[in-house]
Amino acid sequence: MSVEARSDKHTVHSIAALKGGAKLAALTAYDYPSARLLDEAGVPFLLVGDSLGMVVLGHPDTTHVTLDDMVHHTRAVARARPRALVGADLPYRSYDTPADAVANARRLVEAGAEFVKAEGGVEILPQIKALLATGIPFCGHLGMLPQHVVEEGGKYRIKGRDEDGRNRLLRDAVALEAAGVFACVLELVTPPVALEITQSCSRMLTIGIGSGDGCDGQILVTPDLVGAFPWFTPRFVTPKAQTGETIRYAVKDWMNDLEKR
Ligand code: KIV
Repeated sequence: MSVEARSDKHTVHSIAALKGGAKLAALTAYDYPSARLLDEAGVPFLLVGDSLGMVVLGHPDTTHVTLDDMVHHTRAVARARPRALVGADLPYRSYDTPADAVANARRLVEAGAEFVKAEGGVEILPQIKALLATGIPFCGHLGMLPQHVVEEGGKYRIKGRDEDGRNRLLRDAVALEAAGVFACVLELVTPPVALEITQSCSRMLTIGIGSGDGCDGQILVTPDLVGAFPWFTPRFVTPKAQTGETIRYAVKDWMNDLEKR
């Protein structure tokens, strides 16, 4: 399924044009109602993130998410026909080679993704170049890479703290921009380094998460923002709603009504 063209649609080009201008608000979406609600609220950028492994599927980390999971949820989001630009994550080990990256990204595009995202810098440059050569827009993901957290000992560590970390992040960001990547998530990058990357890239939009205010935009995992996954909230998120509590309250209220009947 492809997202049908509509005249007011946000595109990779309209989003990329925000570089240096208005801040981009980006959120994750995993299903039809959340995509529809976020779109109605005016969010211009929706990501079917592999965070769905934790906040929807109940896995301990993102390494359990399969390509079939991503295709299934991307289809559901695309069915909302959002005005927002819709992207999807290439899950763990689905882009080990350029051929894998292209074949698997094509499945996400068929499901309705208008761009794909994968984690890593120069080490996945051949995969990124192969995707771009095929005409599939690519969003990078640098800093803390959730798909690598298990191999790094299970800790979600802040990146760019020392000179070596800073240099690697800058090198990766510059290489991604030179390849033609239109946007890049910076996750848990120290705010000064995130700002430096943002200022060093004249075309590639930076989208921060837990990386301070210096990026071109911000992305959050929607259940964190609306309190729909109340068992864990990252330190850098202030929930704007208590959806979990609202659900518990509504269900108890209904059960009380039943008892009274
Ligand atoms: O999987 C995800 O939700 C993400 C965002 C945190 C950017 O990659």
